[in-house]
Amino acid sequence: MNRTYYIAGNWKMHKTRSEAAELAKALVAQLKDGKHKYLVAPTFTSLETVAAIVKGTNIRLGAQNMAAEEQGAHTGEVSVLQLKDLGVQTVILGHSERRHVYKEDDALVNKKVKLALQHGLEVILCVGETLEEREAGKAEAVCETQTVKGLLGVAAGDLERVVIAYEPVWAIGTGKTATPEDADAIHAYIRKVAGKLYGEDAAQRIIIQYGGSVKADNAVQLMAKDNIDGALVGGAALKADSFVPIAKFS
Ligand code: PGA
Repeated sequence: MNRTYYIAGNWKMHKTRSEAAELAKALVAQLKDGKHKYLVAPTFTSLETVAAIVKGTNIRLGAQNMAAEEQGAHTGEVSVLQLKDLGVQTVILGHSERRHVYKEDDALVNKKVKLALQHGLEVILCVGETLEEREAGKAEAVCETQTVKGLLGVAAGDLERVVIAYEPVWAIGTGKTATPEDADAIHAYIRKVAGKLYGEDAAQRIIIQYGGSVKADNAVQLMAKDNIDGALVGGAALKADSFVPIAKFS
């Protein structure tokens, strides 16, 4: 199965608009001949600035989160309608920082997933176990639950716009990466879970990114694995010098 590699940069809560613009311009210039699928996800405040720079290029525009409701009295939240208005094409949902720091549960993540899909966005649904869960032998079970509950009620026809990112919580921003073998095993398991939900064909097509301290020097080994179809990159996505080599891996 030839799946397209998909490399995404999650800028988290970094960069002012001018800093975001500078990075986006560098990426547009340096990735224009890139062979893979690309995305950058700036903070909400930089979306409009970055949208103008990546428009019409091979770099998609992503948001890092969105509200579970379309609009209304939700102080501090950002709506899917507002994201679409800015040209956002993709939204990252269920990131471990949302789950663990801001206490988003599977039901809330699922509501957001369905709303984003309903509005035509692509979704990157993040799943992954904590260190404690891994040590207790629960990594597969946690990823299965987050995948099944995250996709609850998602129609087979919408699955083409769903990407799953496996991000072991203990590997995010810690410099620790899952070994390519360990990551691939979980990716294969997630694919099996998707197969149970949507059938083998759909499961073979679904893109599963790995995230957690991806750097230029481990990207190739990770992406050489059968079930690893790309990367969701945090720290190394903040500079063109560190992101471009990952994005251009071959
Ligand atoms: P990291 O972050 O690359 O800094 O580990 C990945 C992520 O949180 O998406």
